[in-house]
Amino acid sequence: MVRARISGIGMHVPERVVTNDELSALLDTSDDWIRKRTGIGERRYADEGVSTSTLAIPAAEAAIADAGLTKGDIDFIIFATLSPDHHFPGSSSYFQAKMDMAGVPAMDLRTQCTGFLYGLTVAASFVRTGLYKNVLLVGAEVHSHALDFSDAGRDVTVLFGDGAGAAVISVSHAEDPSELHSFHLHSDGRYASSLCLEVWDIAAKPYIQHEGQHGVVPPQARWPRMNGREVFRHAVVGMQQAVQEACQANELGIEDIDLLVPHQANMRINELVARGLKLPAEKIVHTIHRYGNTTAASIPMAMCQAAADGRLQRGMKVMLVAFGSGFTWGSVYLTY
Ligand code: COA
Repeated sequence: MVRARISGIGMHVPERVVTNDELSALLDTSDDWIRKRTGIGERRYADEGVSTSTLAIPAAEAAIADAGLTKGDIDFIIFATLSPDHHFPGSSSYFQAKMDMAGVPAMDLRTQCTGFLYGLTVAASFVRTGLYKNVLLVGAEVHSHALDFSDAGRDVTVLFGDGAGAAVISVSHAEDPSELHSFHLHSDGRYASSLCLEVWDIAAKPYIQHEGQHGVVPPQARWPRMNGREVFRHAVVGMQQAVQEACQANELGIEDIDLLVPHQANMRINELVARGLKLPAEKIVHTIHRYGNTTAASIPMAMCQAAADGRLQRGMKVMLVAFGSGFTWGSVYLTY
């Protein structure tokens, strides 16, 4: 069988830094509360007029360059996001056009915080079967345009930031140790409403419930809502189990993992996962203090940050793990 590997990674964040103090001026919250409960110090916000597909472009260009390829080498695009540009078509269509890559098949993938891991699984399967040679996988989010900046939204609003990450998944040649080894994905739709943004209900007529003559979506449907404690509890258990499954499937001990790159939802979740796995603190990548939760972008962004810091190097045994809305969760084990 053809082996698949990550041949390049890239990231991009908007310039605008939003500190906890800045949010505290808008909402009933504080730097102390946010840092203690989540580990977040600041996040980035995209300017008005910037869409998710636009934010993704520099990240994708960086990943393609890192792979030593050009746009012309890419034969499939996967775009993972929970903040798509529009209802339809998918952000992959807008992104493909802005990248000037007309003709390359492109699709959206909607598995929220686990989007990058589902995307890696699909991309690696395409490469392994010989269907495509170089798949561009993007995880990108513009959360800040869809957050509730009133006190009612403070539990969710302080967590999320904007950002984009990308990877190219390519054929791994015989002499190359880099390989995507295993994929363990899960979902449990019974918890779909534990973290969601409903805006419209296609079962209703009209599908957006209008309030008054100006057609305003009611506040409870306009913003994301979350049962934070339920997410927290399931995340700690699900992420640990997904890493353990991958270790078992690859006959690895926890001590064999060089680097754990978890989805960045909450510093406390990731610390508890590491503690539960008995993984030393220096083997985990944290970026949440700088960027908050960037959902589908968080893992490729964390990989880029770790590579820039010299902590992620070629040949390393790397475990990726995520948990999020859906609920969806899983792990991908790779040699970088
Ligand atoms: N600032 C200040 N106070 C806040 C607040 C904010 N941003 N958000 C909530 N609070 C308040 C609550 O209203 C509550 O007040 P009360 O005791 O007077 O009722 C208090 O803080 C405790 O709220 P609670 O929800 O119990 O806090 P928590 O310890 O569970 O922490 C989260 C809240 C959101 C940080 C935590 O549940 C969490 O991180 N969950 C996972 C979320 C996540 O990862 N989501 C993305 C998944 S991909």
